[in-house]
Amino acid sequence: MASPITALVEWFDSRMPTVGEEYRKHMSEYYAPKNFNFWYYFGALSILVLVIQIVSGIFLTMNYKPDAAQAFGSVEYIMRDVPGGWLIRYIHSTGASAFFVVVYLHMFRALLYGSFKKPRELVWIFGVMIYLCLMAEAFMGYLLPWGQMSYWGAQVIVNLFGAVPLIGPDLAVWIRGDYVVSDATLNRFFALHVIAIPLVLLGLVVAHILALHDVGSNNPDGIEIKKHKDANGRPLDGIPFHPYYTVKDIAGAIVFLAVFSIVVFFMPEMGGYFLEYNNFVPADPLQTPAHIAPVWYFTPYYSILRAVPPLFGSQFPGVMAMGLATLILFFLPWLDRSPVKSIRYRGAYYKTALSLFIVAFLILGYLGVEPTNVWGRFGDWLGGAERATVVSRICTVIYFGFFILMPWYTARDTHKPEPSRVTA
Ligand code: HEM
Repeated sequence: MASPITALVEWFDSRMPTVGEEYRKHMSEYYAPKNFNFWYYFGALSILVLVIQIVSGIFLTMNYKPDAAQAFGSVEYIMRDVPGGWLIRYIHSTGASAFFVVVYLHMFRALLYGSFKKPRELVWIFGVMIYLCLMAEAFMGYLLPWGQMSYWGAQVIVNLFGAVPLIGPDLAVWIRGDYVVSDATLNRFFALHVIAIPLVLLGLVVAHILALHDVGSNNPDGIEIKKHKDANGRPLDGIPFHPYYTVKDIAGAIVFLAVFSIVVFFMPEMGGYFLEYNNFVPADPLQTPAHIAPVWYFTPYYSILRAVPPLFGSQFPGVMAMGLATLILFFLPWLDRSPVKSIRYRGAYYKTALSLFIVAFLILGYLGVEPTNVWGRFGDWLGGAERATVVSRICTVIYFGFFILMPWYTARDTHKPEPSRVTA
């Protein structure tokens, strides 16, 4: 006699076998390399944060009012009067920053092990599209509390589109739906943040994982495990994703949730980096705050924008540089000419270039959170805001140099012989 559960599974399977087939294809019979390390936690963690954001977002929407006259008050109401509302809001605001922490580490892993290289170009391209969508999602979500930083941050960023030659001013009005950021802007950003972009994001994440599972995962050695299979066609260096990596990822999720909870319960504002202090003041279109800085995950690009000097009074070159800084990521698979993937077997050129790139990215990120006119403590330490501007320009050159010079330095780099099988 089959147990009731087995009987139910069989009943289901005989009517809709696709579910079982897909489960086997993507979980119990998906062979992943056996040498995954710490860096391989962040894909699964990105899925976890995506779920956290969607669920907490649904509950926030139940009490939030997308109306310029009520938005700020409705967020205060969620924080003070809705049972558990403060927790839901802090989960969602912390989740936004956690998303970028996790995704930046996930992207860094790809740079370490050459996961963007053939045959995983599409995995990477879907990843970059996810990254752009995430930035749009975070930017639009930030307008919703209708605080001073929400309002003026959106004003500054949408005004940048006004710098595009010829169509700029019309484009900015089209995005805002008004001549300034207003109720119309809040309404459309709400619609895009709550449904349009999340739908696209979900679709892209599915495409990202399907593309990965078609070619198979890369690994810290950067070698293809499909080249060595046993008599049954299973990769010798592969282990089934379920149960081996489900268990590993659950352990990672527990550690992540512990750290996440510490932030949510003890430091949700994170010193003004996750929730900016000025955003606790209601939006006032007549009062520009002294310092407008975007949230930390945008600041490397914001620094690039500020590092590029205006041309004939137009900010367009800076805007172009900022846009190109994100779009250039798409070309990475074709810029890298190295015959090996993993940093373990690459030579000094790539190692140096990647280290310089990361340092430049972090410095740009730091400079971007500092006030516009003075580059803050870093400027004082260097002996003046002008010197900090020079540093931001050097870092911008390094940022672009990493990509533009890549065909040159990766073709000339030395490399160690790759092993044929993964190293444990
Ligand atoms: C919502 C955001 C994202 C989710 C949910 C997600 C999910 C995943 C998952 C589950 C994996 C397989 C497990 C792993 O390798 O860690 C993966 C692999 C990968 N992801 Fe993402 N990802 C996201 C964003 C990105 C972004 C922004 C990029 C790059 C721009 C990217 C590039 C890659 C690459 C290259 C791989 C293959 C890694 C390898 O096999 O070594 N992903 N992703």
